[in-house]
Amino acid sequence: MDFKSLVSHSKEYGFVFQSSEIYDGLSAAYDYGPNGVELKNNIKQYWWKSMVQMHANITGLDASIFMHPKTWKASGHVDAFNDPMIDNKDSKKRYRADVLIEGYCEKIENKIKKDVDKARKRFGDEFNEAEFRSTNGRILDRQAKIDDILSKMNNALRDADMEGLKTIIEDLEIACPDSGSKNWTDVRQFNLMFSTQLGSIAGEEGKLYLRPETAQGIFVNFLNVQKTTRQKLPFGIAQIGKAFRNEIVARQFIFRMREFEQMEMQFFVKPGTQKEYFDYWKETRMKWHTNLGTPADKLRWHDHDNLAHYADAATDIEFDFPFGFRELEGIHSRTDFDLNAHQELSGKKLQYFDPALNESYVPYVVETSLGCDRMFLSQMANALQEETVPDADGKDSIRTVLKLNPVIAPVKVAVLPLVKNKEELTKAASDVFDKLKTSFNCQYDEKDAIGKRYRRQDAIGTPYCVTIDFDTLEDGTVTIRDRDSLKQERVNIDDLKAKVFAGTDMGNLM
Ligand code: GAP
Repeated sequence: MDFKSLVSHSKEYGFVFQSSEIYDGLSAAYDYGPNGVELKNNIKQYWWKSMVQMHANITGLDASIFMHPKTWKASGHVDAFNDPMIDNKDSKKRYRADVLIEGYCEKIENKIKKDVDKARKRFGDEFNEAEFRSTNGRILDRQAKIDDILSKMNNALRDADMEGLKTIIEDLEIACPDSGSKNWTDVRQFNLMFSTQLGSIAGEEGKLYLRPETAQGIFVNFLNVQKTTRQKLPFGIAQIGKAFRNEIVARQFIFRMREFEQMEMQFFVKPGTQKEYFDYWKETRMKWHTNLGTPADKLRWHDHDNLAHYADAATDIEFDFPFGFRELEGIHSRTDFDLNAHQELSGKKLQYFDPALNESYVPYVVETSLGCDRMFLSQMANALQEETVPDADGKDSIRTVLKLNPVIAPVKVAVLPLVKNKEELTKAASDVFDKLKTSFNCQYDEKDAIGKRYRRQDAIGTPYCVTIDFDTLEDGTVTIRDRDSLKQERVNIDDLKAKVFAGTDMGNLM
């Protein structure tokens, strides 16, 4: 389904709402509705179970969002967590300089795509896209232009050359997308951290930041956790929590927000072994995504060429979102940068005593960092489908179905009395609901014809619908309908729990 349909489905079925909608919304902030919060919690549980509870050497943490301001000095966020920003003097709109330049390249890329489509139509089955792209003169010129622009931009970004970025924008005559004006300010570095003020201390002294990543809460607690759990290297600390970034360009729904949630794990290792663990976590994290049912061809690696100041290797797992392949999760080999920096600025030792070597050292760190909201979006995008199925009379009809993995589906089972105006049926259905609700998130629904109720459950991804009919009153059996196969099976009420459990158990993914 296209992106627009995905956004409207998310709203219509109570997954995601625009924040403060009655005041025309706050950009890049979203609220998770009744089904959204269940799906998000299930994603978090899957992550926590597989990362923390399935690893004897990984433990959890829940650090506070506010941290001592020196934390952000040490981590480099005060000095280096910047985006290059440019304002248009006429429209007063602010843009990320690199996004403007990439937008210009995207337009050239679209022209290439048009040429490819035209040629495909002309040559039919004979058409070989790779050959056409590598031999057609016009396409080669256009591709060379894109490569040249992006290479200049990456060099300017790497060297923090703000003048260089402005020159690229001026040379390409890039206009403000809002007003068409080319009247630009200089490019300036814009720090992405939100700041606020401590009530009791005036001025700079009382300045606090909302954390831009959860990782630093883990670094500063490294020794607290190690000593209280008596873990030996290698071991990990995992955390799920909110992070905040004052993104200049925040768009594409919940993909890039100013307030979002991260699921991060820092794995502390002996210096020199970081490559081995980087490779291990790369594979393990990719498997985590495919185990949930995300098709392998919708995921790919993107190794970083320009490494952050703290990293000696980094890669992204990208997902094929409705707007193209984009970063879903980052895996970073962060060296000993963070622990060293905190050690220096705080004056407190953050070292591990290695009993085998009888010496202390600062461990290296391999990090896995997944955005919970991006994970949510990837699952919605992957699952939402329209398909033709037979209706009650056997005729073709179109249904919208959310084929989420049952383990993360918001509602596991819907309990439906065949008709609502027969008290014996509604009473029997309520009894079934009461039996199941202690084990699963269930919904009771008696409104509308049964076919319509099935469709409502399909649209929110409920894997099982249980229907209570007149036979139930006679023999204590119900029908259970499978969301994907549409098969209906008659089962005894006493066997329902085991049946639903077998299909929705998180253990199926481990
Ligand atoms: N501790 C490392 C770190 O924060 P990152 O690549 O900046 O690395 C990690 O962020 C993940 O957080 C990303 O892969 C993405 O899933 C998520 N993320 C980052 N910025 C985001 C934003 N503005 N909105 C939603 N998710 C975001």
